[in-house]
Amino acid sequence: MPAFPPEIPFARLAVRNLPVSRIREVANAGIGNPDVLAFWFGEPDGVTPAFIRSAAAAALDAGSTFYSHNLGIAPLREALSRYLGRWHRPVSAERIAVTSAGVNALMLAAQLIISPGDRVVAVVPLWPNVTEIPRILGAEVERVPLHPDAQGRWVLDLERLLQAMTPGTRAVIINSPGNPTGWVMPKADMSVLLDHARRMGIWIISDEAYERLVFNDDPQADGRFCAPSLLDIADPQDRVIVANTFSKAWQMTGWRLGWLVVPPSLLDDLGKLIEFNTSCAPGFVQQAAVAALEDGEPHVRAFVQELRLRRDTLLAALATVDGLSVGSPEGAMYLFFKVSGVLDSLALAKDLVREAGLGLAPGSAFGPEGEGYLRWCFAKPAPMLEEGARRLRAHLQR
Ligand SMILES: Cc1ncc(COP(=O)(O)O)c(C=O)c1O
Repeated sequence: MPAFPPEIPFARLAVRNLPVSRIREVANAGIGNPDVLAFWFGEPDGVTPAFIRSAAAAALDAGSTFYSHNLGIAPLREALSRYLGRWHRPVSAERIAVTSAGVNALMLAAQLIISPGDRVVAVVPLWPNVTEIPRILGAEVERVPLHPDAQGRWVLDLERLLQAMTPGTRAVIINSPGNPTGWVMPKADMSVLLDHARRMGIWIISDEAYERLVFNDDPQADGRFCAPSLLDIADPQDRVIVANTFSKAWQMTGWRLGWLVVPPSLLDDLGKLIEFNTSCAPGFVQQAAVAALEDGEPHVRAFVQELRLRRDTLLAALATVDGLSVGSPEGAMYLFFKVSGVLDSLALAKDLVREAGLGLAPGSAFGPEGEGYLRWCFAKPAPMLEEGARRLRAHLQR
């Protein structure tokens, strides 16, 4: 018997071969159960700030219920241009497109440049969507692993990344600050990567969803409230595509709004792709995003400050649990830590849900390099983090 009888309709092979999300697999075991403390998804706990919600409500009341331009409404593209210029080199609105969330931005970026059979290099462990999107389009993804240093901090062997970028490589994908590791690529490494990619004609797709969630622990660093970005160093004509989202820094996960920065020569083709994917992002959501960019800075700063305290609370609580190797992440909102002796993180995560009432993401959800690890989203109140650590300690000590 063939595995897929021809008379039964199936999706194409690249789709059938997609993995089921292991994070969802764990969450399904406990979602809706009030006794489970859930840290499995990457989502801030607070509702979107009131001034952003009010801006959306006002836009709806004013009748913003129609299609908008493929590339986004002009006020938002201009607001993004001003906002990005505050943190990076100037970015003209002619390089910016509004997308229906960060994950849609990643899909559009891949659709712009990736063809079946292309070879793509990605720095991992990594949020699975980033590596599966090129595979949906028929590309092969070569994985270059980060590794933990003596303090448990994730670091990149830059030489290894450069070696993986062979003449046939179409694109390299980085995500800094990284999900799940919290790794932040130093600016000097980004410059070396950009130079090498320029020489070889390789595209860089930079997923900067967490660029504002950076903790600036190093007093020698320049103390900015923004992680190093390709937009700090790349020229407009470089083969560089930057994807970003309103989900994390402005606590707008459910709104589904993001953006892309591309070379000007790609913008018309990007507009065509947006037409055939979603046609446009919702107008009233875009109007709310203008308010987020214009008035949101105090909120973003306060949120990052709070996240830093929560990270430190969780680090202190996990320091009392034997058998963990935990490093302090420089950015994003996750601890990604090894549990000694664990060979099946999915089984452990399911046991934790059922037996300890603790919901964590299994490390293997982020690729084979994550096996033996757990990911804990610390964008939750401190008492909940402390109770979660207590449950983990009790479970591992049984
Ligand atoms: C690394 C990374 N990139 C992009 C996104 C996209 O977020 P969204 O689709 O909510 O904008 C996420 C969300 O978890 C993420 O972790």
